[in-house]
Amino acid sequence: MDATDNSPVAYDLKTPTGLGADAARDIGAAARVLLADIFALYVKTKNFHWHMSGPHFRDYHLLLDDQSAEILAMTDPLAARGRALGAGTIKSVGDISRRQRLLDNDTDFIRPHEMLAELREDNLALVASMRSTHDVCDEYGDVATASLLENWIDETEKRVWFLFETLRGS
Ligand SMILES: [Fe+2]
Repeated sequence: MDATDNSPVAYDLKTPTGLGADAARDIGAAARVLLADIFALYVKTKNFHWHMSGPHFRDYHLLLDDQSAEILAMTDPLAARGRALGAGTIKSVGDISRRQRLLDNDTDFIRPHEMLAELREDNLALVASMRSTHDVCDEYGDVATASLLENWIDETEKRVWFLFETLRGS
């Protein structure tokens, strides 16, 4: 499934909202894909935190722990926001894997700078999809979802900055 996914929410789960059915459908679809990417990036960041190696182990291990906590903290508010709009949200790990656009990395050994570079690119891609979700919110005047996204774009750009600077010269 992708951002055009229009999965209807069960009648009993239709939350009353002034934004209307079209907003629930379009913002809900964008939010589900974004949430799947956020979960995928959370697991990848933890994966690299757990499998870090080399002379900068402590710094990188701790950096990725901080970043993974920040990423995980977005999941519940984003899912709840979708439900407040009357849209459905992520149901399972299988649901995540069908919707995610960021790729998993199951490689056995990855060099530390390759891990950081991959996370930098993934966080950049996440910023782009947050911005496009923000555009959908603007179409419907959904300032609440837009405001969540604005903070998360700021945090995500800071993660990119930290990863970029940590990689400088490597
Ligand atoms: Fe840990």
